[in-house]
Amino acid sequence: MHADGRDARYRLPDDFELRDSVRTVRQLGGRVIRTFVITCRPEPAPAFMFAVGGEHVVPNEAALRAAIAPHYKQVHTVVLPDGEAHKDWQTLNLIFDALLSKGCDRKTVLFALGGGVIGDMTGFAAASYMRGVPFVQVPTTLLSQVDSSVGGKTAINHPLGKNMIGAFYQPVRVVCDLNTLTTLPPRELSAGLSEVIKYGPIADMAFLDWIEANIDALMAQDPAALAHAVKRSCEIKAWVVGQDEREAGLRAILNFGHTFGHAIEAGLGFGVWLHGEAVGCGMVMAAELSLRLGKVDAAFVARLRALIGRAGLPVRGPVIDAADNAGHYIEHMRLDKKAVGGDIQFVVIDGPGKASVCGAPDAMVRDVINACCA
Ligand code: GLY
Repeated sequence: MHADGRDARYRLPDDFELRDSVRTVRQLGGRVIRTFVITCRPEPAPAFMFAVGGEHVVPNEAALRAAIAPHYKQVHTVVLPDGEAHKDWQTLNLIFDALLSKGCDRKTVLFALGGGVIGDMTGFAAASYMRGVPFVQVPTTLLSQVDSSVGGKTAINHPLGKNMIGAFYQPVRVVCDLNTLTTLPPRELSAGLSEVIKYGPIADMAFLDWIEANIDALMAQDPAALAHAVKRSCEIKAWVVGQDEREAGLRAILNFGHTFGHAIEAGLGFGVWLHGEAVGCGMVMAAELSLRLGKVDAAFVARLRALIGRAGLPVRGPVIDAADNAGHYIEHMRLDKKAVGGDIQFVVIDGPGKASVCGAPDAMVRDVINACCA
């Protein structure tokens, strides 16, 4: 432990910076002749929220283009429809159409400017265009800054399952500008807090204590609180991904709440609940499963449920099938990427700050779903 109470295993290098867009552009300049800014429609997409102001470069589209332009021969922009419902082949193909129609070569750099959907699709396009071109993540939502932009997971959805088609492909840089968080709509903020909260029970109870103590400040978009949340989340994520980039084992703990959450997203139809909302509720369900498996006590589950509720997230799951709700959840979860031979694998809490992956009897899973859904 360091004097500041942080676990040394999770520390990022001292030169880790959260706001670094100008340097990024300069570092990449000269090595490429074209760049693309891939972003979402300004309306009605809620993720396209930026504030221009202060002394810092704010990565909205115009600002990013202006910063990039002197360093590249050509800059083009592709505007994509945003939201989980559009994270599909059709939207992905818009990127390829644009790249090819502009004659982009292997030196092209893609910049993903937006939330998790834009980042995941841009990354997948970068991984596959001409068998791989560099890309930079410029995440503008809390969720994408604390989770999806870091670690190299890229994907699109399939109607039958979330993130089913994709690749591990690392961005050359992730640029988080905290100014973009000051105008996030409340739903997006809460969705991002879900992934922040996740890091506590799986890896760092001191961070969970801190989140509980600062949840009101986070909900009020206090810049210092948000900065700490982003930095600490990235530290923990980097520590996990650094040991298991391709999710052979440890990295799966980052999916705490996601098995139930992905079933909610696919069951309701992508985009009805935000990813972070589904994960928030999914963490309550996964904690309930951990309780039934004898790994945590009821007080731990109650504590987590209370915090998730205070973050403005749903703590009860939706009914996705009135006739056989639990069966429908289970059907979706059998398609989860962690499932082996049709056996669902859940991320469970082994004890405060420690997670693992295991199976559970169907009857127990049904019991959890029945107890947790409205
Ligand atoms: N979002 C989970 C992971 O990156 O592994």
